[in-house]
Amino acid sequence: MQLEAYLEERGRFIDGELVRLLPLGGAYPPEIRQAIHFAVFSGGKRLRPILMLATAEAIVGELPDGAVEAACAVECIHNYSLIHDDLPCMDDDELRRGRPTVWKKFGEAVAVLAGDALLTVAFQILALGATREIELSDRLLLCSQELAVASGTFGMVGGQAADIANEGKDIDVSVLDFIHKHKTGALIRCACRMGAILARADDGQLMVATRYGENLGMAFQIADDLLNVTGDEAKLGKSVGSDRQRGKNTFPKIHGVEKSRERAAQHADSAVDEAKRLSRPEVLIELARFVVERDY
Ligand code: IPE
Ligand code: IPE
Ligand code: MG
Ligand code: MG
Repeated sequence: MQLEAYLEERGRFIDGELVRLLPLGGAYPPEIRQAIHFAVFSGGKRLRPILMLATAEAIVGELPDGAVEAACAVECIHNYSLIHDDLPCMDDDELRRGRPTVWKKFGEAVAVLAGDALLTVAFQILALGATREIELSDRLLLCSQELAVASGTFGMVGGQAADIANEGKDIDVSVLDFIHKHKTGALIRCACRMGAILARADDGQLMVATRYGENLGMAFQIADDLLNVTGDEAKLGKSVGSDRQRGKNTFPKIHGVEKSRERAAQHADSAVDEAKRLSRPEVLIELARFVVERDY
């Protein structure tokens, strides 16, 4: 399989669905819609929705009902988290996906509101799917619950709060693990679990999807930390060296580059081992390798 072509094809598919589902029309006031459009259609990898779809397919061999809604919802949450993550009161970043960050281009107030809007619309999309097809509503309700927990204080928001609270401090490795598991891992784990839920996974398959997602999430954030040290700004589309400048606690800071690479590879290997328990594991295996080998 050509992973690059696969990612591109899936990315285009998800973009098409996002255009359909997001509030992008010409209604007043235009700034918020322009900011949402600018934030979402700027060349993101679409990894979370792709993982969501691939996990479902690994279990059931096709895209189940509700897959498009769940895929778009998780990408909306991810984009909201990036807009807020870049704000001056958070990471104070000016570059994202090779372009100015949303606050830099539209101002802080519009950036906060664009994040709020994307958070809200994620659950609107899931609810829309549930009301359209009554037979699907129980599974989409479960997905809403998964996504809410993964996004909130027990998930991404909790991780972000710990990340910010510990800036410039020396922390224990267990706190670093908490930050990574929550700020990034929770949403990736959730994407895999939603795929399994929509594929009507049994308990065993759901556990496999969960452990795959947990390992992939950790590998992904360690790779993100490493790219902030060793990456190429032009390829990455983000500032390199900013973590160190802000006194962020990262894997390379605490464990060094080599050890961090080893840890990322170990998590990717564990994800592969989990994927192999499913009946069609090929794409999930390739995605696990991509997460640690990527340069963007
Ligand atoms: C970046 O995520 C932020 C983290 C959670 C580490 P991605 O690397 O998936 O960002 P995009 O969507 O491809 O820009
Ligand atoms: C981002 O983590 C996590 C979320 C947005 C939830 P980072 O702050 O480490 O990611 P980048 O490097 O800005 O993308
Ligand atoms: Mg951050
Ligand atoms: Mg950041």
